[in-house]
Formats: sequence, C-alpha cells, structure tokens
Amino acid sequence: CVWFTGLSGSGKSTTAELLSQMLLEFGRQSTVLDGDVVRTHLSKGLGFSKEDRDTNILRIGFVASEISRHGGVAICAAVSPYRHARNEVRAMFPADRFIEVFVDTPLDVCESRDTKGMYAKARRGEIKNFTGIDDLYEPPEDPEIIIDTVNSSAGQNAFRVVEILKGQGFVGPERL
Ligand code: ADX
Repeated sequence: CVWFTGLSGSGKSTTAELLSQMLLEFGRQSTVLDGDVVRTHLSKGLGFSKEDRDTNILRIGFVASEISRHGGVAICAAVSPYRHARNEVRAMFPADRFIEVFVDTPLDVCESRDTKGMYAKARRGEIKNFTGIDDLYEPPEDPEIIIDTVNSSAGQNAFRVVEILKGQGFVGPERL
C-alpha cells in the first residue's frame, strides 16, 4: 500500500495516477483509491467532521489492506489529516507493506493553485472545517518518503516511489 497524505491541492492524486501508470509500464497493476472518488461511492454520505474523515480513512485502509493481503498494490490518495487515523491504517499492514508518502506542499502553494476553487470558498467562510484553513493537518512524523511538488515534477516524484518499491522487490528489476 502506498498512502499519499497532504493538503487538498498538494498533488496527491496527480502523483498517485502517474505512479499507477509507471507501475503498469513495469508490469504491475494497481488499484487507485482516491478520496474524491471514494467519496462518490464507498464513502458516499460522509462529510468532513473528524468522525466522518476517520471513517473515510479507515474504509480506504480496509479495502487497501484486503488488496495488499491478496498480493495487489493499492495506491491511496486522501487528505488523511489526522495522524491517529493514518497510524491505525498503518497498523492494518505488515510493517514492510505500508509506504506513507507525505506530499509536503506548503499551504500557500496549494491555495494559489486552488484547482477546485475550494480554498477561496473556505476563506470566505462558505465551507467550514477546511483542512489547512480552519481544520487541522497533522504532518506525518516518520513517513517513508516526503515529496516536494514545488521543486520536482510529478514524474520525478512518482519515480522516487517506484525506486522504493523496486528496492523492496515489489517491482522486478528485470522489468526496469
Ligand atoms: S479526508 O480528510 O477524508 O481524507 P478526502 O481526501 O476524502 O478528505 O477529500 C478531500 C477533498 O474533498 C478535497 O480535495 C476537497 O476537494 C474536498 N473537500 C470538501 N470539503 C472539504 C473540507 N472541509 N476539508 C478538506 N477537503 C474538503
């Protein structure tokens, strides 16, 4: 399981999608579980209270752990702002099967991108409990990898994750 965490607009989905494509080129299929998409079915009806976010994260974690248990690769991309919930998910996996990727894009960069116009709405008070504005984001304390989307491209970042997977034997070197 490769778990991307970071603010809205940090680049989680973009990097996750690229990683999935790269893995395919190396002969490895994967399942992408993206917060925005998951919230249209698996987590439909959940909002953004702490309780609902935790439920969302644990559902994604559960599906990812099933995929992993059967030998598959799950790539998850959700804000997952609370450390406790992320660590609960981590505990669902054997130690070497969970890679936490902190997409460490500063708030001002995410806000200036504002791809969905949500930061502007949150600043105007039209959306409450928006992560980074009036709700907490707890950065991972010990992520397997921290990526920088300001100075590196999504392709470079995705490739760094591939290298880790390769190092752990999940992507065969003979395919690279
Ligand atoms: S999580 O907190 O439960 O992990 P998730 O990744 O599924 O969040 O969904 C985040 C997306 O929902 C954001 O990219 C944004 O588009 C949208 N969203 C709507 N309301 C909020 C909010 N209050 N805080 C953060 N994201 C929100």
